[in-house]
Amino acid sequence: MSEIFQKPLTLDEIKEKTDRYLFGNYARLPRAFYFGQGELLYDTDNRSYIDFFSGIAVTSLGHGEADIIEAIREQSDRIIHSSNLFYNQEQALLAEVLIQHTFPGKVFLCNSGTEANEAAFKLSRLFGQKAKGGAEKIISLHNSFHGRTSAGMALTGQEKIHSGFGNLIPGMIYLPPNDIAALENEIEASGKEICAFFLEPVQGEGGIHPLDTEYVLAAKKICEENEILFVFDEIQTGLGRTGKLFAYEHYNIKPDILTLAKALGNGFPVGAMIAKEDLAEFFSPGVHGSTFGGNHLASRVAYETIKIIMSRELLDHVVSLGDFMMQRLLLIKQKFDSVTEIRGMGLHLGIEMQIPCRDLVLSCLDRGLVVNCTSEKTIRIMPPLNLSLENASKGLDILENCISEFK
Ligand SMILES: Cc1ncc(COP(=O)(O)O)c(C=O)c1O
Repeated sequence: MSEIFQKPLTLDEIKEKTDRYLFGNYARLPRAFYFGQGELLYDTDNRSYIDFFSGIAVTSLGHGEADIIEAIREQSDRIIHSSNLFYNQEQALLAEVLIQHTFPGKVFLCNSGTEANEAAFKLSRLFGQKAKGGAEKIISLHNSFHGRTSAGMALTGQEKIHSGFGNLIPGMIYLPPNDIAALENEIEASGKEICAFFLEPVQGEGGIHPLDTEYVLAAKKICEENEILFVFDEIQTGLGRTGKLFAYEHYNIKPDILTLAKALGNGFPVGAMIAKEDLAEFFSPGVHGSTFGGNHLASRVAYETIKIIMSRELLDHVVSLGDFMMQRLLLIKQKFDSVTEIRGMGLHLGIEMQIPCRDLVLSCLDRGLVVNCTSEKTIRIMPPLNLSLENASKGLDILENCISEFK
């Protein structure tokens, strides 16, 4: 075993190697974490932080979750990977549990969110080609985020994500969120050419903007009436984050396609696309695939993650703690003019600031709280789903103090 990992390097050493050997495509904050336990993170200087971010809504069960660690140990002892050229019991059992908790259909397993959306994009196009007279246009919303691969980027309705890459995959239509008339007009103009509509129930990277219920219900109905696949990207909202296992449950509807990743492996990379039964025929052998997708270890971790979420009454906790945090954030908003709006659902919360908030994130870090700034002016809070009331309260005190000094 390599000795070098047995103690932390200094932050300067890590930064020096990172700058020298890695692409500079991430605007990194000046901390490196070495250890995590529950809702606490420890940096290379052994300073502790309350984690209000879960590594972008990934470590939803907290760090060092004993049953996940045990599953990783036990599974890696037995077998990690064999490939999709063979059957694999962990994958089959994970798919079964995913279908049991969603809708009758089929599962494709992959390694990340953008790959789940890539699969949904390809499945939608195949549906359009084979079942809807060649329809290949796809609708998504302004300010959405669906990933960084070519299809993920094209699906994303943000100019800044497209910029510099030349011609994107053609056939995308970007519409304003919550505008039913704009959707109806588009359907009237080109409904026959449209195969799918991708949407996030809460735009996460775009600044925690929940879609209006009225809009989601109208969009679902319009899609149904016009043979357009309704694709819910729950890569950020899925697996309990909003207080239901999946956010679509809030609207009492079921999507045709659901995409998942992030919290599915509690930090282990795994993604999934679930599609209703009658789309299954379009993914025939050779049409799509992934070397790693759903390997023994990834599938085992995802299986255990879902079992834990469902067996520990976490969803009720998300609802009650989410209410508490929302109430406290509304009080903070009342006190400070720099806060303009509080948005969110469950433990997926956003604080809109009047000015860019990167410096606010830095001052929170200095006082032992990890939060994130997205969409320039939104503080995003996505703690582990099992965050304690005590640490929720402590973290909000830190945030309030930092906001009170934020000019
Ligand atoms: C809604 C949504 N879709 C897709 C993605 C892309 O996921 P990944 O970074 O795992 O490729 C993200 C990531 O933030 C996301 O929030």
